[in-house]
Amino acid sequence: MHATERTALITGASRGLGLALARGLAHRGWNLILTARDAERLGDVRDELARQTHVAAIPGDVTDARHRDALAVLARGHGGLDALINNAGALGPSPLPPVLEYPLEALRAVLEANVVAPLGMLQAVRDALKPGARVLSITSDAAVNAYPGWGGYGASKAALEQLTAVLGTENPTLRVYWVDPGDLRTDMHQAAYPGEDISDRPLPEVRVPALITLLEDALPSGRYSAASLGTVLANARESAA
Ligand SMILES: NC(=O)c1ccc[n+]([C@@H]2O[C@H](COP(=O)([O-])OP(=O)(O)OC[C@H]3O[C@@H](n4cnc5c(N)ncnc54)[C@H](OP(=O)(O)O)[C@@H]3O)[C@@H](O)[C@H]2O)c1
Repeated sequence: MHATERTALITGASRGLGLALARGLAHRGWNLILTARDAERLGDVRDELARQTHVAAIPGDVTDARHRDALAVLARGHGGLDALINNAGALGPSPLPPVLEYPLEALRAVLEANVVAPLGMLQAVRDALKPGARVLSITSDAAVNAYPGWGGYGASKAALEQLTAVLGTENPTLRVYWVDPGDLRTDMHQAAYPGEDISDRPLPEVRVPALITLLEDALPSGRYSAASLGTVLANARESAA
């Protein structure tokens, strides 16, 4: 691996926001390590992006410690990571149950996928993170707003935000971001609004420039809204033109 090459590990890269980001980074020449559970879909993504860059993809579940270890072996084999993007997540039951009716087993599963797995992923690759590596946790506005029905998912994203924030203060040599991508037209969003028309929501590609700025520039660690950062970037481009 050439010293100037950059490598990102993206969880949940077979659909939705993770796929859009993988495509964006492939276009910019990043090497990619990708994962998701559906092997066939992930294989299609690998085949598509391998035309542009070096792509390694292993199917599996990020809640499985052995799978995270396998991804970490790949990360070391790539000479380390410039970025870890913890994007894979679980919505929980659909339709979204009110807190008083939230099945506790379902809450445990959501916490496992949205809190324990991202931390486990980070711990697995900690020795593979290059100096100044970016750690990006995809969270949600449900982490900070009390939307009815979003209690289980929102609590998990709030926990992920706090873990990521503390990680940043404990590791000032890393650049650590926790990012609300905003509402997006994806499978997860459709599951949150079963039977509803979500065609007015932006496609995930719209948020990719903001995420790439976090991964390639040197913004301070912190919480970002991809939509707000995108507007700032668009305004900056307009005033420079
Ligand atoms: N869409 C929105 O409006 C919205 C808003 C705020 C935040 N977010 C957050 O943005 C992130 C991406 O969401 P999205 O809307 O793009 O979701 P999505 O369309 O449902 O895609 C989720 C991706 O993650 C993979 N995945 C899910 N669980 C996994 C697991 N346990 N192990 C490995 N891979 C797994 C899925 O593939 P497999 O199913 O094959 O594993 C898929 O590639 C999530 O963290 C979500 O909470 C989304």
